[in-house]
Amino acid sequence: MPVNERIRTAREWIVRAGSITVLTGAGVSAESGVPTFRGAEGLWKKHRPEDLATPEAYARNRALVWEWYRWRQELVAATEPNAAHYALAAHASRGRSLTLITQNVDGHHERAGSRDVVELHGNLFRARCSSDGTLASLAEGPFTGIPVCPACGDAMRPDIVWFGESLPGDALQRAFLAAENAEVFVVVGTSAVVHPAASLPGVAASRGAKVIEVNIEETPVSEFAHCVISGTAAETLPLLFSHDEGSP
Ligand code: OAD
Repeated sequence: MPVNERIRTAREWIVRAGSITVLTGAGVSAESGVPTFRGAEGLWKKHRPEDLATPEAYARNRALVWEWYRWRQELVAATEPNAAHYALAAHASRGRSLTLITQNVDGHHERAGSRDVVELHGNLFRARCSSDGTLASLAEGPFTGIPVCPACGDAMRPDIVWFGESLPGDALQRAFLAAENAEVFVVVGTSAVVHPAASLPGVAASRGAKVIEVNIEETPVSEFAHCVISGTAAETLPLLFSHDEGSP
């Protein structure tokens, strides 16, 4: 089926659906200039996750881990949400039921205006006290140094889910519930290899949802998705979620 026809079909499903769930990955922010993890220029091609994104790495060298996250904060702070983020925010603002689940930690969905985003992997602009769990915003910068807990004075860690750690329970529960109850499930810009997030499209499909995938490459989801659209997020999402007056 030509890509235009696929987009038309997917759009029709989206327009008619009572409940839509969207799962995004690094690819949705690629056109903003935020690097992905596994592509040719991906972060995990240049850095070893075991040196930077595990509890053991943090215990070994807290300063190095923070240096890396400070660099990523600076990088993301210099970028803007793109047309894909805005299309999703605009759709929900029109009163349509849309649960947005993201694996991204860049905060671009919120910056584009999405509310109640289910953040599965944390947020780059938040620190968490390792001792008492206090959270602190790091959005204002400057993006240097190791933050100190305002409550107890201990060092804080990035509020990010590292390899080997569990995902936040409430976010995970909301994500699985939204996958189970979706009429349409849209997967955008994820290689779909990191679980449990990667299981969500399969859960939705097994409960009868129509699964739509938007990506520039094939992934494990492409094998069972009902509609696979080969295209970039910023080009495709405005077409899928556009609103024509008079449409159902
Ligand atoms: P990956 O880097 O694994 O995959 C990015 C996906 O986006 C690939 O499938 C690309 O083909 C696709 N892509 C790239 N540019 C795109 C574009 N402009 N439009 C649409 N698709 C595009 O990133 P994730 O799947 O998000 O975890 O990675 C999952 C998790 O692994 C991340 O959340 C991170 C990482 O380790 C943590 O940090 C906890």
